[in-house]
Amino acid sequence: MRSLFLVATALALVLGAASPASATLSATDKAVLNFALNLEYLEANFYHCAAFGQPIPSALWVGGMGQAGKAPIGCPKGRGTLSIWARKYANEIALDELGHVKLLRAVLGKDAVAQPLLDVGPAFAAAAQAAAQLALKTTDPITFEPAFDVYNNDTYFYHAAFIFEDVGVTAYVGAAKLIDSKDILTAAAKILAIEAYHSGSIRTLLYQMENKQAFSKPALLVRDVVKAISDLRDAVDGSTDLDQGIVSFGKTANGTPYVAANVVPTDANRIAFERTTSQVLRIVYLGGKSKGGFFPQGLNGAIMSA
Ligand SMILES: *[C@@H]1O[C@H](CO)[C@@H](O)[C@H](O)[C@H]1NC(C)=O
Repeated sequence: MRSLFLVATALALVLGAASPASATLSATDKAVLNFALNLEYLEANFYHCAAFGQPIPSALWVGGMGQAGKAPIGCPKGRGTLSIWARKYANEIALDELGHVKLLRAVLGKDAVAQPLLDVGPAFAAAAQAAAQLALKTTDPITFEPAFDVYNNDTYFYHAAFIFEDVGVTAYVGAAKLIDSKDILTAAAKILAIEAYHSGSIRTLLYQMENKQAFSKPALLVRDVVKAISDLRDAVDGSTDLDQGIVSFGKTANGTPYVAANVVPTDANRIAFERTTSQVLRIVYLGGKSKGGFFPQGLNGAIMSA
């Protein structure tokens, strides 16, 4: 009873409802919410590390039944050399993602999974390496100048944020049809909207620097690296070609070719596209099936295998 009451209270808080929602979560809803919680742990820690030079508070790593959570790999000790401006941007998003972690944990209560092992450092360099190899059509190792350190270089930090944000949006869209409870669906829609704002903002930032060099070496422009990251996400998540960079090429109704910004990635109907949980897992595992990339030991919870 007590835990039911707590869940109802949490839901009422989440949804701003006057009366507590009926709150027995289905097994599917628990699985989906825990899947989302894993992704939010990842994002919250990444932005926390960028803004504050430390992971999210360790009290939030613990699972709902006291399971120990894990410290992330690759978080810098203390603040790096990001500009104040980039850090303030990271600060805002860190608070959003931390809020999502707290909210999902509150709704899940004793069913909340612990924070899994996260890689918020070397995995970015591995993703950048794979993206640059795609862009340069080579399998040879690429040496970046400056070294690809996402906590010490604004440009790299924005590229790292870009790796995640669109994935978050498409993951929440894809999860919608799996959710049983309307209250949970509403809460998920509220989170989805915030992830979409983040995605649009990071894509706008990158679009403003599209003609700049992303690295001193190799000589690749920001728009080409963004395209390569998008191609990498497409390559690892399966056969469908959904993902997009920040520039689009098309033809007007009378056949005149144009180049437009592509700050908002859409499908042919100009609405958001979706990803299955398997497609999302393939991306965050950087091609792996049950672990790898940003989750070196896999996600915690029922949905963890692609
Ligand atoms: C960040 O990387 C860019 C692109 O290579 C470079 O021009 C800039 O000097 C770097 N900034 C820092 C602080 O290392």
